Amino acid sequence: MPPDGAAPAKPLNELFSSLPTTIFEVMSKLAMEHQSVNLGQGFPDAEGPESMKKIASAAMYDFHNQYPSLLGVPELRQAVAKHSEREQGIPVDWATETLVTVGATEGLASAFLGLINPGDEVIMFDPMYDSYTSMAKRSGATIKPVRLRLPDFSVPLDELAAAVGPATKMIMINTPHNPSGKVFTLPELEAIAALCIKHDLIALCDEVYEHLVFRGAKHVSLRSLPGMEERCVRLGSAGKTFSFTAWKVGWMSGPARLLNPIIKAHQFLVFTVPSSLQRAVAHGLDSEAEFYHSLGPSLEAKRQLLEAQLEGLGFELLPAHGAYFLVADVSKFLRPGEDDVGFAKRLTVEGGVTTIPISGFYVGPSPPTHLVRFCYCKEDAKLKAAGERLRAYLGPGGKGCPEPASA
Ligand SMILES: Cc1ncc(COP(=O)(O)O)c(C=O)c1O
Repeated sequence: MPPDGAAPAKPLNELFSSLPTTIFEVMSKLAMEHQSVNLGQGFPDAEGPESMKKIASAAMYDFHNQYPSLLGVPELRQAVAKHSEREQGIPVDWATETLVTVGATEGLASAFLGLINPGDEVIMFDPMYDSYTSMAKRSGATIKPVRLRLPDFSVPLDELAAAVGPATKMIMINTPHNPSGKVFTLPELEAIAALCIKHDLIALCDEVYEHLVFRGAKHVSLRSLPGMEERCVRLGSAGKTFSFTAWKVGWMSGPARLLNPIIKAHQFLVFTVPSSLQRAVAHGLDSEAEFYHSLGPSLEAKRQLLEAQLEGLGFELLPAHGAYFLVADVSKFLRPGEDDVGFAKRLTVEGGVTTIPISGFYVGPSPPTHLVRFCYCKEDAKLKAAGERLRAYLGPGGKGCPEPASA
């Protein structure tokens, strides 16, 4: 018997107890310590529609504040169905094909838990949003990463086809894509759809950035392609569509057969979502289309502002048509032996600007170590301040310049 007061010694969950601190936490902490201009974390400075805030606060007084339906309040589920039909031409039966979740994050977790059996293989495009892998692994999945090709993060269709095997159950697709800002092209989507149909696969479609597209690109949901309605589950987020990242309201739509086990997982993870916020998001989806349709053009302008400053300093910028991330090749600025993590830390500490090194988004071996991600959904003044600091540090004569004046 252990002595009184001894800590329990039995091994805890292997996956979660061995996870390292994420690079996001490392960079955010460093940014705070050094008061840098933080273009690392992905949240917007400007908030969403006032009307939604008013409805959320009024709803707390006007309605019963007890557990709503585990599926979500009917007005939000109806709004999700109408939004799907209106924006993507995908008909959805609100009563059987929608679910409201605690942000897309919980929707993803519920989807992996509800759909995966131990040993199932899930194909994911590398690099990827960091919450996918842990929850997929915890559900028993084996992850098969397929690396998107630089510089435009295109899908290597031959490698994708070769990754499908007898144990493959699902393809995970995120478009517009975090961290690259890539918007999957129609030929890529058609090729993914063809593979799903040929091999009887499910597709989990993270479309939280669906309205954040620009430069002539169009977001097309995989679920809108012929033969894919019964195979795809789509995820959306009020954090991204309305810039209310703290609300943690998300939604899913998909065929009842796929959604049903996901609903069971959701039931035991969180059961439901705050009803006041759900009512506000229902209003947003029904009546604030102007807001989310304006996000693309306003982000494009912000991207241009940041791009001009980075290009002026000699950064090589990778192409993108969506989300609010800009990936820059920093090879020119790396010191001997330095990688993207070392550079991003140095830039925060010495240059006063925080970015996220891209290698942290890769699951497969030997990730690229010469790329960093800037998040630009920030006030123009902040983007300009970042530009000035970068110029002072990396520009001619700056301390971080590849050829310092004092050398
Ligand atoms: C690709 C992607 N999916 C999902 C999420 C999580 O969304 P939510 O805040 O609604 O949980 C994020 C958040 O950054 C994301 O980038």
